[in-house]
Order: sequence, then structure tokens, then C-alpha cells
Amino acid sequence: MVSPLNPILEEALPEKDETAGIEKPLRLLKHVPEDPAALLDLANHSIVSSRQFTSEHVKQLIRLAAKHEAVPQQARRPLVGKILISAFYEPSTRTRLSFESAWHRLGGDIMSITDPATTGIAKGESFSDVGEMLNNYGDLVVLRETNHQAIYRMMEGLRIPIVNAGNGTDEHPTQALADMYAIFKWRLELMDKDIAENKKVRIGIVGLPSTMRTVRSLLYLLALFPQSFKEVVIICNEEEVFSESQKENLEEMGLILRVSNDLKKELPKLDIVYINSIAWIGDDYKEFGQEFALSKSSPLKKGAIIMHPLARGRELSTDLDDTPHNWYFAQARGAVFIRMALLTCLVQHNW
Ligand code: CP
Repeated sequence: MVSPLNPILEEALPEKDETAGIEKPLRLLKHVPEDPAALLDLANHSIVSSRQFTSEHVKQLIRLAAKHEAVPQQARRPLVGKILISAFYEPSTRTRLSFESAWHRLGGDIMSITDPATTGIAKGESFSDVGEMLNNYGDLVVLRETNHQAIYRMMEGLRIPIVNAGNGTDEHPTQALADMYAIFKWRLELMDKDIAENKKVRIGIVGLPSTMRTVRSLLYLLALFPQSFKEVVIICNEEEVFSESQKENLEEMGLILRVSNDLKKELPKLDIVYINSIAWIGDDYKEFGQEFALSKSSPLKKGAIIMHPLARGRELSTDLDDTPHNWYFAQARGAVFIRMALLTCLVQHNW
């Protein structure tokens, strides 16, 4: 907490932003009983897909993230002497920097690859051979790569854990963890098995589950808490909304899904609006759903929150930034703490 030096400075400070305060993570920390077994379960594992997580994993990771956010002064530096290999063969602002920030905060060192042209991949070296080499240089790899198979090839050579930081159109599991952290900080009762009927929420996802990795990973995690969502409304105008078996799998897990192409009609009923327009396909990104956009004049429900994995495009007007609907900045901020929680569990048991 920053204490103002004098009344003039106090006046100049912006109004307290409760999305960045410690009150919500503290409440969350008190709400979830600690279960170390769920976290021990993750030790020395690689994370490729959201499907690897159980609801208990998610709850305990979120509890640990809340601890990092609420009481940072208690954080020890468990990763001193450990090296992260941060390999981003595709552009990133948030994922790379929040992973690296998380690792630094935990006391570790980092080697970063931000340009594929500077590694042997540019000379035709296989991902499997690169993986074999990385075993000698670090303790954990974070990989972003457009080719969704690259992470599996790298794992053929790796004996240290790897985390998928976005593999083409497939998945982005740690973004989904950050999304769930933001949702549960907003309404912590959504984590509960026996949630009251009047506490359940309706979520709208403006995006394409077949090709948007953030949406794909988020849907898997939402499906671990089907009791909390009255309905998940997918808002899009595309033909192939779901990939093969995706809808059936999510419905089997208990999620109630509906597809709509009318954002204005849906908005007044939505408690959470998750919006994204970008998918990485091949070597470039493609924008979908440009007919769907949110601004201050959109018919949003009172108290509704907007989430966005960012980067922002035309679909999300900056005039929403100063409204209480803005939960996307809190979502991005929380990504550091949830990544701290995950990294600690993957690399060592003692958190
Ligand atoms: N959310 C997300 O993946 O953002 P970056 O592309 O900036 O990492």
C-alpha cells in the first residue's frame, strides 16, 4: 500500500481501484481451505492443456495466487538458483512478461528467446533436438509457438517440465487459469459445489471455440465448475463454431452451451462478457467477429464484468476502461500471481 507523502500528493492519486487491492485476494484466501495434495500432484509435470487440471487443482492454484497477491511480503524466493528458458517464437506482451515477472519474483534467473531466427530452428533443427539441448541449460521451459505440434515434438527430447504459453489455434492453459482467477476474485462463491441458484451467473463468450486458443482453454476450465454457470452463450457469426467433439465433451462435463449471433440481444442478460477477436493461424493472426464490439453505450447489465485476454482490437472500446465493467486489467494483473503459483508447484514442492 502506498502512503501519500503529503495532502497535495494524496489529492493527485487516482481513486482506489478495488480490482488491484488486496481485499479480494484476501477474501478468496480465507474462503478456500488449503489442500497441499492437489498442488503436490503438479510437481515436475508439464502443462500442455487445461484438460490436465481438476477443479481442486484450479482452486488450490487460485488460493496460492491469492496468497502471493494479498501478502507479497511473506513470499519467499523458492526459485533461487533455478533457470527459466522463456522461448517465444511468436509475439507476446502479457504472457512472456508475466511469466518472467513471476519467475523473477520467485528469485529465479531467466534466459529468453524472443526471435526464432536466432536459434537453430531457423536452420531446420528439430524441436525434439532443441528440447534435448534445453535439458542442459535450465529447469523449466515456457514455449509459445504457432505450430500446435511443436510442444509435443519438444517434449520428446525434454526431461524438464514445459508449459504451453499458446500453441497456435489449440490451447493457452495459463491464460485460462488467469481468467478463472479473475472470475473467482469477482465472485468467490462461484468456486463452491453447493452454490445457491440465485448466485449462478450467465457468461457470454464473444469468440470462436474452434480456433481461439484462449476460448478453448477457458471453456475446459469453466466445465470443471458447471454448477456455477446458468449458461455459456457463444456469440459468433462463423460456420464452424466448435471443433470435433468439443461441444459434446463440454456438455458431458455439465456445461450448458448455446450459440447466438445477436450480441445486443444477449448483453442485458450476461453477468460476464468475455470477448476476443484474434486467433493465431499459421504464421499470422486473423481477426474474427468484427461486427461484434463493446463500448460504453452497449446495453451491458448493471454489475456485469467484461473480460478480454488482450491484445485489444476494435472490439473493445477504450471508453470502457474507466467503468466498473472493466475487469480485463485486473485479469491481466492477476496473471503474474497465478503464474507464480503454478511455477512454484511445477519446479519444487515447497511453497
Ligand atoms: N493473453 C495473451 O496471450 O497475451 P499476449 O499475446 O500478449 O501474450
